[in-house]
Amino acid sequence: MPKTILVTGSAGFIGFHVSKALLDRGDIVIGVDNFNDYYDTKLKNDRNAILEKHENYKLYRADIKEKNIIEQIFQHEQIDIICHLAAQAGTRYSIEHPGEYVQSNIEGTVNIFEAARKYDVKDIIFASSSSVYGNNPVPWSEKQDVNKPINPYGMTKRSTELLAYTYHHLYGIKMTMLRYFTVYGPWGRPDMAYFKFADKIIKEEPIDLNNYGKMKRDFTYIDDVVAGTLSAIDNPKEYEVYNIGNHKSEELGYFVELIEKNLGKKAQKNLVPAPAGEFLENFADIEKAKKDLQFEPKTSLEEGIKKFIEWYREYYKIS
Ligand SMILES: NC(=O)c1ccc[n+]([C@@H]2O[C@H](COP(=O)([O-])OP(=O)(O)OC[C@H]3O[C@@H](n4cnc5c(N)ncnc54)[C@H](O)[C@@H]3O)[C@@H](O)[C@H]2O)c1
Repeated sequence: MPKTILVTGSAGFIGFHVSKALLDRGDIVIGVDNFNDYYDTKLKNDRNAILEKHENYKLYRADIKEKNIIEQIFQHEQIDIICHLAAQAGTRYSIEHPGEYVQSNIEGTVNIFEAARKYDVKDIIFASSSSVYGNNPVPWSEKQDVNKPINPYGMTKRSTELLAYTYHHLYGIKMTMLRYFTVYGPWGRPDMAYFKFADKIIKEEPIDLNNYGKMKRDFTYIDDVVAGTLSAIDNPKEYEVYNIGNHKSEELGYFVELIEKNLGKKAQKNLVPAPAGEFLENFADIEKAKKDLQFEPKTSLEEGIKKFIEWYREYYKIS
């Protein structure tokens, strides 16, 4: 039986791919997005245009900060499951604009949870982040204490995990939180390093390598993230948190090499100190997601970067 899933942030990178996968398998998707200009809105509109081709997709251009508008959507639609992905993302920007993060990520999430309570939606899957781990030793496991986030973005994501427990306890809403680790791939986010590096290498502009290039990231390819998210949608839990990562921490230098190789162009590198609030390595322990969600990331960084650059060349018409 097809389900009706409300996907917030449906014009965003992960929201678009998750919505598309749900539509392709026959579910009904109600998308919500405010198309804010944190990055190029053309990309959001182009992603949305692809979703609009499906007859089972309906979009509300709405802001989750607007409590009454969110409630009207729930009043009009029969929603089975919520996949809440809308958020103000980005760690660096959060240091300059903490208020926007509190408003979209915490207040916006309260509005979604309140509407779920009022209109009796019992399953919520939502995006948390590896940023909740702060400066914990790697590999990062769900068993670790996560009460010391090192930037406002991580703080808001941890706050929503706590808020979810309260709504689960009071109203019996099932809550699954997915801590995504550095997601990349086609239709990705222009504010993230892999996208910025590709842009700058093409334009022959220098790229900044933070912490003098000594950083590691657990890069997780979008198709693997979609598979993990759909599995969480299909296997609702009472209240659980899962790491969704690739379980492979890669050196920044190697990652730049792969982009260079696929673009056939060398980067000009600036070695700079690590910015405040940035962690030096993230690395996911994914045993729990493997066991409960049969989550098995399949895409190597070599293959993923190749696919990203192929998409990038096609989208931006670069020969
Ligand atoms: N991409 C990653 O590496 C990553 C890692 C960890 C967690 N996450 C989380 O995953 C989710 C999706 O991230 P993404 O990479 O697709 O980011 P994204 O910015 O591409 O997508 C978020 C979408 O939400 C929308 N949005 C933001 N504020 C809104 C509001 N107030 N009302 C309505 N819509 C709003 C934006 O317009 C955007 O389209 C976010 O919650 C993010 O924090 C992402």
